[in-house]
Amino acid sequence: MRDSLDNPFSPGSDTVPAVWAGRTEQLSDWRDIVRPRRLSGLPERGRTILGEPGLGKSTLIRRIAEEASAAGDWVTPQLRIPSGTDPLKLVATAVLKLAEQAGLASSREKRIGEAISRVQAVAAAGVSLTLRGTDGPEPYTSLTELLVEVGIAAIASGHVMVLIHIDEIQNITDDKALSQLLIALGDALTHEVEVTVPGGALVSRSLPIAVYLTGLPDFEDMAGARKGATFARRFKTATLSAIDELDLAEALQEFVLDGWEVADGAGGTARIRMEPEAASLITEICRGEPFLFQLAGEQAWYAGRGDTITADEVRAGWRGAQREATAHVERILERLPGKERQFLQTMAGLPAADRTLTHIAQLMGLAKATDAGPTSQRLDTVRGIIERGRPYTFRHRAVEALLTSDWPNL
Ligand SMILES: Nc1ncnc2c1ncn2[C@@H]1O[C@H](COP(=O)(O)OP(=O)(O)OP(=O)(O)O)[C@@H](O)[C@H]1O
Ligand SMILES: [Mg+2]
Repeated sequence: MRDSLDNPFSPGSDTVPAVWAGRTEQLSDWRDIVRPRRLSGLPERGRTILGEPGLGKSTLIRRIAEEASAAGDWVTPQLRIPSGTDPLKLVATAVLKLAEQAGLASSREKRIGEAISRVQAVAAAGVSLTLRGTDGPEPYTSLTELLVEVGIAAIASGHVMVLIHIDEIQNITDDKALSQLLIALGDALTHEVEVTVPGGALVSRSLPIAVYLTGLPDFEDMAGARKGATFARRFKTATLSAIDELDLAEALQEFVLDGWEVADGAGGTARIRMEPEAASLITEICRGEPFLFQLAGEQAWYAGRGDTITADEVRAGWRGAQREATAHVERILERLPGKERQFLQTMAGLPAADRTLTHIAQLMGLAKATDAGPTSQRLDTVRGIIERGRPYTFRHRAVEALLTSDWPNL
């Protein structure tokens, strides 16, 4: 009871957390739009999900992938791109596995056998395959070809989707590799095949393939400059921001109402409850950051032994987590280019009602308000840290809290 083995909170782990909050918009985008449309052969763009560190990008798609997998879909593992490595190798290897899952490896069709061996070459040599100047198709076209075969096999299998998740896409620093990868995936998404419908007519349809790209907002810049207009048209980008307080409260409601079921150590089960004030305190102190939500919950769980988590235990637990909470937000700030950080610090220094572009630019020592325009625009549309209303407000509530108050002190 209330020990490390049954603590349901999991800050920073690579699993889908047991205590899940919000992100309903993105989950229903998958369930109600992407999956049904692509299964029916309708075109639907790939998805790019960006956001500052710790906002739950990887976790969100991991959850979608788990759901898909449980429904029988063919799902790649989360393909995490290590910094500076060749993404084509990683993705080619994953596509080969999908081909195996689709039963293509044993296909006797020459076309498919050849597509597989070309992608095997890509998996071994990656983007450097092109640099050798050999004739034959570019590596990315082989990748698209095999993906198309996987898609056709998925259609033949009935109600099956193919789901590809590439994580940490900001780590793709090689221009050529990035554009090849984006083209390969984009071409598979827009590819149409002819199928026979009841009655014998031939119609063309898209393949049941979905692609999710996740990573830091910096990807937007890199890709923006290099990917060209084609990428922008084939992928729809969303930027995650803090989780709503209402969603966090709802996630803890199970503790408050019924209690969280755990083993009682004697072969039976017991329930761990939470005082309503304890739940609202967790909801409040984490400032909408999913990582801090898990951290606050985890520490509160450990802070006592009783079968009800009290508000005092939340406070005691949080005291032990404060340094980590500060470090988490400082890391977010430190990653930002100097001018963006300066903008946020200046904005935070002003009374809430005075946070206008004119004021902020003036205090930053800029000649005119428009000189701060691009910086403020990036902080809003690319990073989702501020909102340029009248006046400007913070959307990243933990950044706001650190810069404008005693937070994380209670
Ligand atoms: N919807 C959610 N509800 C509850 N907890 C969540 C949710 N999403 C993520 N978390 C928790 O937040 C933490 C950070 O999530 P995750 O690693 O997915 O963030 P990220 O955006 O991928 O960060 P990074 O940019 O550093 O890779 C994890 O501990 C995860 O359990
Ligand atoms: Mg991540």
